[in-house]
Amino acid sequence: MPNRLVPYIKALVHLLCLAPFFVELNRFRTGAFDLEADPVASITHFTGDWALWLLLVSLVVTPLRRLHPSLSNLIRFRRMLGLYAFFYASLHLLVYVLLFSGYDIQMAWDSLKHGQVAKLWSLWLTVWPGVVDDLTKRRFIQVGLFAWVILLALAVTSPNFMLRKLGGKNWQRLHRLVYVAAIAGCIHYWWLVKVGVKAPMKDTIALTLLLLARIGWTILKQRREPIPNASKAAQPAEA
Ligand code: HEM
Repeated sequence: MPNRLVPYIKALVHLLCLAPFFVELNRFRTGAFDLEADPVASITHFTGDWALWLLLVSLVVTPLRRLHPSLSNLIRFRRMLGLYAFFYASLHLLVYVLLFSGYDIQMAWDSLKHGQVAKLWSLWLTVWPGVVDDLTKRRFIQVGLFAWVILLALAVTSPNFMLRKLGGKNWQRLHRLVYVAAIAGCIHYWWLVKVGVKAPMKDTIALTLLLLARIGWTILKQRREPIPNASKAAQPAEA
């Protein structure tokens, strides 16, 4: 891919990644949610789906760029895709904390309009025990939170100055956790659906193929380079 196209494709990727968010925002604005049986569940599922899909798309970048040298600059889109996955996962968490938990948004909004900021906190205290209860009793929430914490760590360490601070090798090791986050995301999905529901299967198959590609590449590389060059500095682009 010619380098001069990269800024245009980046703009397109931004648009594509933000499109679901704006579509959902528009549904809220036009009142389309009111027609749904359970709008909160719908938003939770929507944000959860997009978090997982974008995470999987970010993982496609590495095997894809290895197919042909002309695709090597695809790496320049991986970070932004990962950050958008984190964006949707954070919205998902926010929706859970503010809507799914039963937080009284209407009352919070009214209090805010009347300058009663402290009321926001007291409203939160009424739902907090339920959130803690969920966290301790529901394993799908625990594994979801685990995935989100990994994505948070990866987002925080994604800027170039963090790469320099951590050193290439450490940065690369840390960022391999993206696979753990994706596995945790799929487990989260399997654990929340009813027994017999196969909805998480497509995402799981996609992740399995990506993991196999990763393992296959590592084996192939080891066969080609039997003596590891320990002094070679890690290249984040190859993570
Ligand atoms: C931060 C902690 C998280 C919490 C508290 C959380 C909570 C939830 C809840 C309550 C649901 C709906 C369950 C139901 O229908 O009964 C859900 C669904 C889902 N979550 Fe999460 N989640 C978290 C993190 C994540 C992360 C990091 C991902 C992706 C990487 C994710 C992906 C999904 C998916 C794919 C669904 C199902 C969507 C569907 O049914 O179409 N979640 N989550």
